[in-house]
Order: sequence, then structure tokens, then C-alpha cells
Amino acid sequence: TDLQPLKEVYADYFLIGNAVSISDLVGQRLDLLNMHHNLVTAENAMKPSYAYNTARQFDFQAQDELVNLIQQQDLALHGHVLIWHQQTAEWLHTSDDGLVLSREEALANLRKHVKTTVEHFGEQVISWDVVNEAMNDNPANPADWRASLRQSGWYQAIGADYIKEAFIAAQEVINENNWDISLYYNDYNDDNQNKAEAIYQMVKEINQEYAKEHNGEQLIDGIGMQGHYNLNTNPENVRLSLEKFISLGVEVGVTELDVTAGGEHAPTERELQAQAYLYARLFQLYREHAAHISRVTFWGLNDATSWRSAQNPLLFDRNLQAKPAYYAVIDPD
Ligand code: XIL
Repeated sequence: TDLQPLKEVYADYFLIGNAVSISDLVGQRLDLLNMHHNLVTAENAMKPSYAYNTARQFDFQAQDELVNLIQQQDLALHGHVLIWHQQTAEWLHTSDDGLVLSREEALANLRKHVKTTVEHFGEQVISWDVVNEAMNDNPANPADWRASLRQSGWYQAIGADYIKEAFIAAQEVINENNWDISLYYNDYNDDNQNKAEAIYQMVKEINQEYAKEHNGEQLIDGIGMQGHYNLNTNPENVRLSLEKFISLGVEVGVTELDVTAGGEHAPTERELQAQAYLYARLFQLYREHAAHISRVTFWGLNDATSWRSAQNPLLFDRNLQAKPAYYAVIDPD
């Protein structure tokens, strides 16, 4: 194939990532991954529920297997994820009777989970999603970020400060070891202005407080805009959110990009073109702000294995062939 590698086209802008499972790290899929990308995120393997065995002890065997395969390639690794309301062992914050644990117990579990995981992977990762999807979808009063938080198990047991506590626990391990690892807050519906405002207020307050307590040091290094978009997404809203986050002085990662088009049928030419157009608009925007964007990660290699497979959201089709969206990303102008 004579395609231009995405990672070369964007070498002067930001890293190009993708989401992987073990089955992507072999044969043709591995070739495509290596050709276009220099960063990966584990699509599922490094989520909190997979860090424990049935005896509720830490067990990183499956995670290590994937990470070891990644380390054999020329790929950086982004850690996903430490604290989330999904794919998490419930007992970390909720008793077997379904009652939330006391604040002290849940906080101890949160700190232990974060510290042990960060310690375990060390500098095999360049960054971590420390907290994922803590915010409600369309907060009514985004100026009050605490009132905008999802009522997750972690929130119910600990309260709004579980977020800052998770970042502090990660930062402590990093400082003790003198590691260079960036810490991210990651969320979706990032183009929704109410949600973006609530995230902005949260990161601003947490970072200001921490800076006061720690000689001006930064706690939250980056905001992850997942970027799960569709053909109705207005790139001007993406711009507003991106610029709002950049104004906080943090880096932005586009962490899980995909653009659904159509559904339950082979994509029509019109859908493929509309999808390509939105990808082009997004990459124009990302290029414009490249100084503040650390990476753009696609959420899957091709339409066949995407988590939103029915809606064909990626750059490569079911046969791993480049779609119009690929050509739009290569040359968005
Ligand atoms: C998704 C995976 O792609 C699926 O395979 C899994 O069944 C559910 O999780 N936001 C996130 C990702 O942060 O972890 C999610 O990944 C997609 C939405």
C-alpha cells in the first residue's frame, strides 16, 4: 500500500493514537497499527475491574500481557483508566449488601487502587486517565461543578473530592519515583457547552487549590476530550470547548475519536463524504491548536471491530481499506 502514514503526516503536530486489544497486535492489524500510529490506549484491558482476581486481590497478569506486547513495538502507551463508574469492581465503593461504604473505607480503597496501579505500570505509560466521565451529560447549572457531578458509587461514598483525591494519590507515586507521567481528566459529550463549562470550573478550582498547597505545582496536567461524535456534531462547539480547556493552561488530548455515520447498513457515498467532511473540519481545528494538543487517538482500527461498529465510525473499512475519512485526515484543507 502506498498510503501516507498518519503519524508522519502529523509528526510536527501531535501523537496519533489508537485503542487496542490483544487481537490487534498480530498480522495485518498490527501492520496497520504500526504504520499509522505512535501511541496506543488499551481499549478495555487496563480498566479497574480487570486489576483484581475473584479473591479481590490485585492481579495484573492480563494487563501485563497486553502491555508487554505493546512494549515490543515502537508505540507509547496511555493508561486508561484509574477511576470510573463503569468496568469497576463495585466492592471498592459498595458493600456486598449494596450499601455505599463509609467515606474512610472508600477513600482508602480509592487511594490504594490508584497508587498500586500507577506504581505497577510506572513509566511504561506516558499518561493516565485518572478520572473518567465524572460529569453529568448536560448539567443545568455548570457554574456549580459539584452539583454537576454524576451520582456514581465513588461520589456517593466519598463526595465531590474523590476527584482531587484520585489525582493526589497518582501524583504522590509519580513524585516519589521522579517519573514523567501526565495526569488527565477524561470525558465525553465534550462538545456540549454546559458540560465543558462544568469540567472547566472543576479543573480550574482543583488546580488552583493544589497550586496554593504545593508551591504553584500543577495537579491535573490535561483534559481528555473523548470525541465520540456523529454527523450532527457542530465543529464550532468542539472549538469552543477546546479553546476553553486550553485557556486553563493544561494540555488537551483527543482521546477516543470516532464519528458515526448512518447505521445498520453499508455506508452510503453521501454518509462517507459527510463523515470525511467532519473529520477534515476536526483536524483543521486540531492543527490550528496543535501547540496545546498532545495526541489524537482514534477509538479503534477499523469499522469491523469498533465499539460502534454498526455506524462505521473509523478511517478504515471492514477490509482495512482507507475510507474517504482517511484521505480527509491526511489532507484536511
Ligand atoms: C468502551 C469499549 O470500546 C467497549 O469495548 C466496552 O465494551 C465499553 O467501553 N468511554 C470510555 C471508553 O472511556 O473506555 C469506552 O470504551 C467508550 C466510552
